[in-house]
Order: sequence, then structure tokens, then C-alpha cells
Amino acid sequence: MKPIQKPANPNFSSGPCSKRPGYNVTNLDLTTLGRSHRAAIGKVALGRVCSETAEVLGLPEGYRVGVVPASDTGAVEMALWSLLGPRPVDVFYWESFGQGWLTDIVKQLKLAQVNEYAADYGLLPDMSQANPSHDIVFTWNGTTSGVKITDGDWISDDREGLTICDATSAVFAMEMPWEKLDVVTFSWQKVLGGEGAHGMLILSPRAVERLENYTPPWPMPKIFRMTKGGKLIDGIFTGETINTPSMLCVADYLDALDWVKSIGGLKATIAKSAENLAVIEKFVAENDWINFLAQDEATRSNTSICLSLDLDADQVKKVVKLLDAEGVAYDIGAYRDAPAGLRIWGGATVEKTDLEALMPWITWAYQQVSQ
Ligand SMILES: Cc1ncc(COP(=O)(O)O)c(C=O)c1O
Repeated sequence: MKPIQKPANPNFSSGPCSKRPGYNVTNLDLTTLGRSHRAAIGKVALGRVCSETAEVLGLPEGYRVGVVPASDTGAVEMALWSLLGPRPVDVFYWESFGQGWLTDIVKQLKLAQVNEYAADYGLLPDMSQANPSHDIVFTWNGTTSGVKITDGDWISDDREGLTICDATSAVFAMEMPWEKLDVVTFSWQKVLGGEGAHGMLILSPRAVERLENYTPPWPMPKIFRMTKGGKLIDGIFTGETINTPSMLCVADYLDALDWVKSIGGLKATIAKSAENLAVIEKFVAENDWINFLAQDEATRSNTSICLSLDLDADQVKKVVKLLDAEGVAYDIGAYRDAPAGLRIWGGATVEKTDLEALMPWITWAYQQVSQ
């Protein structure tokens, strides 16, 4: 039987992710619009982005937060281009985005000493292979496979290399061991339901030290440059962006940060996401035709929740289309490079009650297609 109740909000995309509950674009503080981002009013807003991100995330003393161009991709590439070269690099990947970073390191930067540790969709590579004297590049949460790492215990406290972590679908939804991470990137469009366009780059003091003492042999585009005369350009980490940002996106992100604070901070956003995963875990436990793509329960993502069905790829497409046509779930097909299945976002901006309302619809769509 077709369910009656529909999710109040059918947006379950894995990026751009659903806007926060109660979001209303007319409530944004737009006093910065039409003004120079270098005027005091613009700098204050951008400075708040940096300082309040650090505060809400509870970053260790000395960690810097910068707003950079080109969303998470921009932040990761800025880090790879600026920092890699002096040490061998260990790259760990288990889905398409992580694999993309390997491609950049091998084919674009053409680094010679690169160790590749890969795993298929649903699995994690053996992170304990990480060599503390190498630089280590990895994603925290594989957005397209729904597999996350659970901790940073495999990272040495005495490492000589840097850890560079693409955490775009993890920050604000998962505990991060900041002291183990030298570079962390994320974008506004993920867990906080912000906009694309700008990336966030978090640097540990060790990453800054590398920047100030190493000059890569390759050309560096202006939008990647973080140092001048061997010194960190501090302004990038206090609100003076390299080039012109969208102040509308900035206002939107500040609104999202205010929302995080209003619901109880980082603990609350992590808890919301965990509750969302629990709804889907219950559903999967009750139905033998649907499973997590993640093979190990502990590695199941609580943001990009990837599920496989006992249907072929065309049938899965039909399920996704049916749910879309009914207006109960948008954009929940697996990523184009991942195995056929569903990918449902469970980050903090998604309401548990909406996921609860969605589950019977998935059963209904499955039954329609498998008959
Ligand atoms: C793990 C990961 N890295 C990088 C990206 C690219 O992010 P952006 O489009 O914000 O640059 C994504 C986007 O989904 C992602 O999931």
C-alpha cells in the first residue's frame, strides 16, 4: 500500500545538502551585500567565519582556519599543491573523491614516491600502513561509498610527515581528532547545508611550518598562494580572502553557524546525524532486501548513507525516479562512479522525522519495481 505521510522536507541530497530546519533566506544578514569585502563590514563577517568555525569545532590553540576559493576541491588542491613534494606520500582511498586526489598527486604533480593504499567500495584500506615519516593524504568520510574512518589512532603523535584530510562530508557530523590532523578541508554545502563556492582550509602549526620552509618546484597559481616571502599570508586566516568571495554565501554560512550554536553546538549536530543513521539502521535491520554498502558496521557513514538493494541497476533507477516523482525524496541515487544503490544524506540539517517518513516509501517503491 502506498504510504500516506510524506517527509515534510524531501531534500536528501549529499551535496548541496538540505538547508537547515527553519531556514529562511530572508532572515540572512545581508548588510554586507553590495559592499567591498575589504571594507570593515566585509572583513568582520569573513573574520567571524574563521574564528567562529574554530570556536564551534573546538580547534586546538594555534590551528588556523581560512576561507579559500573553489569549495572543498579548491581547499584540497591548494593544500596538495602547496605542501607536497619534500616527503614520500601515502595516499589512502576507497571511493572516487579520494581516488581523484591520487590522480592529482601522480598525474598532475607527478610525484615519484607515492604509495597507494586502495579498497573497493564498501571497504577501508589498511590505515595502519601509514608511515609517520611520509605525508598522508586521505578522506575522512568517503561520500560516494558511505564508508568513514572511525578514529585517528593509526596516526602517530610523533609523525614527521603531514596528515592531509579531506573531511568535507564529516566536519560538524563526526568527532575529529584535531591534534592528529595537520590539514583539514571541508565545504559549506555539506553538513551545514550552506552554499558551494568557497572552501574551508584548516591548518595545524606543523602545516604552517611546512608552508614557510618549503617552496614547491612547480608554478603556483595566485589563488593557491598562501605565503609571501617565505611567510604565511596571515590575512587569509583572519578574513582577507585571496580573491573576491560571495558575501551572500558568507551570510548564509554565518546563519548556519548561528543555527549550530542555537541547537547546542557541535555535540548537537553530531548527535542529530547519529540519530539519522539510527533510523536507517533500524529500517535495514527489518528488511532483508536492503543493505549498507559499508561492510563493517563501525565504518558506516552517518552522513552519506549508502545502501544496496537486491535489484539491478535499472530497477534501482526506477526506485529513485518513483520517489522523486512522488515528491518524497530528491537526489538519492548513488553517485555516478559508485555501485548502483541509494545514497541518503543523514547530516545535521536532515530531520529524523523526515527519514522516518521516507522509510515506508522506500519499501513501497521497492515493491513496485520488484513485482
Ligand atoms: C569527499 C569529497 N571530496 C571532495 C568533494 C568535492 O567537493 P566540492 O564540490 O565542494 O568541491 C566532495 C563532494 O561531494 C566529496 O564528497
